[in-house]
Amino acid sequence: PRVAAVLTAAGSGTRFGSAVPKALVPLAGRPLVAIAAERLAASGQVSEIVVTAPAGYLDEIHAAVLSGADLGPGVRVHVVAGGISRQASVAAGLASLTSTAQVVLVHDAARPLVSPTLVQRLVATVVAGHDAVIPAVPVIDTIKEVDDGDPPVAVRTVDRAALRAVQTPQAFRADVLRRAHEAGAARAADEATAVSDDAGLVEALGLPVHVIAGEQAAMKVTTLHDLAIAELYLREGA
Ligand code: CTP
Ligand code: MG
Repeated sequence: PRVAAVLTAAGSGTRFGSAVPKALVPLAGRPLVAIAAERLAASGQVSEIVVTAPAGYLDEIHAAVLSGADLGPGVRVHVVAGGISRQASVAAGLASLTSTAQVVLVHDAARPLVSPTLVQRLVATVVAGHDAVIPAVPVIDTIKEVDDGDPPVAVRTVDRAALRAVQTPQAFRADVLRRAHEAGAARAADEATAVSDDAGLVEALGLPVHVIAGEQAAMKVTTLHDLAIAELYLREGA
């Protein structure tokens, strides 16, 4: 199938706290966004990558990908300005896809160490007939629901066996993802917060989201401390 990817890199990285956008921060010498793009391309599945960039950083993000990543032949990369929320950024990326892609991957530059194999498994699962497919890992901590007191009081302990921590890339039949984002944008007009992942928009349409095994190395880099952990995964062969 024709596969395109929206690679989100338009966040500012507030919790990371660097002077440049988080996607430009180097991991073992290369910007996060370049490593993420290279791993999408290394799957051999992706023919177009649109990167969402913060306003004022479009050229810099483009240069970081072109000089920092070996994308091989046949992968077209372009950059668009992101939006105010991650959801708005993905919508902008989707709108700018030129290919008539049948499958769209949505991936965060903040998860640079996803394996090409996971990308292949995601695409294969969509091809096998699932409209939406996400990688997820079991939750390790005990999770409790608390009330809004100060300090809060534990209300109940959630059954951890039924919980998963969700990662990216998330893979979709292209028409389903477009429909989910259109409905999501219409809802966002009267809701304060956007949904935090694309699969959530598909769930809101009442469609099933298929879950496959994720990878520890596909962890999200949120803080400086996470960058050190990602470096450890790299050294261990991720
Ligand atoms: N993102 C985006 N557009 C936004 C906000 C986020 O494209 N308006 C992207 C980020 O660049 C990142 C991914 O969404 O690749 C996940 O977001 P997160 O890890 O929260 O990154 P930031 O929003 O940059 O970090 P912070 O929340 O700490 O500011
Ligand atoms: Mg954020």
